[in-house]
Amino acid sequence: MLYRVVEAGEGTFVQHCSWHGQAQQASPLAVSRERAAEVRSLDGVFPLEEPQMKASGQLTRAEDVLVSVVVPTYREADNLPLLVPQITAALDSWPHEILVVDDDSNDGTDLAVETLRKQGHSVRLVLRTDQRGLSSAVLRGFAEAKGTVLACMDADLSHPPEALSRMIKALENERVEIVVGSRYVAGGTTDGKWSWLRKLNSKVATLMARPFCQISDPLAGYFALPRVVFERAEVLNPVGYKIGLELIVKCDCTRVAEVPIHFSERCFGQSKLGLRQQIDYLRHLKRLADFKFGGWSQLAQFCVVGASGVAVDLLTYALLLRAAIAISLARAIAIFTAMSWNFVLNRRVSFSASRFGRPIVDQYFFWLASCGLGAITSWAAAVSLSFFTAFFAEHLFIAAILGIALGSLINFILARYWVFTDEVG
Ligand code: GDD
Ligand code: MN
Repeated sequence: MLYRVVEAGEGTFVQHCSWHGQAQQASPLAVSRERAAEVRSLDGVFPLEEPQMKASGQLTRAEDVLVSVVVPTYREADNLPLLVPQITAALDSWPHEILVVDDDSNDGTDLAVETLRKQGHSVRLVLRTDQRGLSSAVLRGFAEAKGTVLACMDADLSHPPEALSRMIKALENERVEIVVGSRYVAGGTTDGKWSWLRKLNSKVATLMARPFCQISDPLAGYFALPRVVFERAEVLNPVGYKIGLELIVKCDCTRVAEVPIHFSERCFGQSKLGLRQQIDYLRHLKRLADFKFGGWSQLAQFCVVGASGVAVDLLTYALLLRAAIAISLARAIAIFTAMSWNFVLNRRVSFSASRFGRPIVDQYFFWLASCGLGAITSWAAAVSLSFFTAFFAEHLFIAAILGIALGSLINFILARYWVFTDEVG
């Protein structure tokens, strides 16, 4: 099997590549004359250059395609002399350029690129001194690239360059919007040296991407897509490592091809994927959820924050009761503590887009006012149940939980439509 196409939401079907059998018209890889002026991202605006148009009208497919391979690097000087010749060999039949986007590694990367260029490889260095980060480096590379096909791969030889030709061929199928070099599709493999912790980590992270993309390896850093598909993205957030997932979601790619690859251990040097990148991944998922599911994502986050607030409330209540505080006062203090807790988290998470809007003190005031009705309901329900019914007098916490449930519903409605209304960023 050369590759597999996955249709999001409609199950999976397998297709074999029929390179020669394709109709020739309207290839998505052909140079598009209509160009978006720029791609906006949180880290700035990336202007897209007009690619070089060939003068001779209708071209054969191979001439139409210019492949740009972006290789983000941080301290990969030792790997480049191995990698670049392999890319050149793999892309033998396509005009191509290789862009090494380096974040000021200072390890001889510039010399390595210069030497390779002199040896005849179509490679150039894009040096960034003002920014760091894998995803933003890849976007910078795409902004500088002239290709009709944009590809991205790691520098450390984890991604086999010879798969590039299979990936480009997969894109020749007009139905395919992005192609991923996949470790987990049938035929894909990883070096056997992974610890169980690394496997578990990879598995959990893959599962977390499920709501956005149903392919087997949504976190792959090895992918290629036609420029016309890339240009569909309006706003890109290059946070963290998963720029492939970002593009699948933001470019609305429903037809993703997966080409099986063998993912090797890096050749030289060290991985830069650490705790920081894992936290970034969670932030990234939150943003993707906001983008893809809008208000539903907010509601889900609001519920998670609310659930943590319930825990804070009950814990506080338990401590106060233990300190022999009267039920009505204890409920009041516990409810207030949870309200403040929820405010802080909702401001940071569920409604983070309004963080730069109204001043925090104003927001807190509105929040307390908006929760007031819910809080009073919660307090009144719990206290009256506890005082006036024998059952709840015995089960104070069940009364408290019932009160919280009633109050929460009122809270969400008021918060969404009254407190956190400004959406900035
Ligand atoms: N310019 C730039 N800036 N490049 C970077 C940076 C940075 O801040 N951080 C990492 N890179 C480059 C590395 O030099 C390498 O070429 C590539 O990005 C991948 O970095 P690694 O540090 O080797 O990542 P990894 O092997 O742990 O992760 C790879 O596999 C993951 C799946 O397991 C990457 O391909 C991930 O994208 C992928 O999700
Ligand atoms: Mn690596």
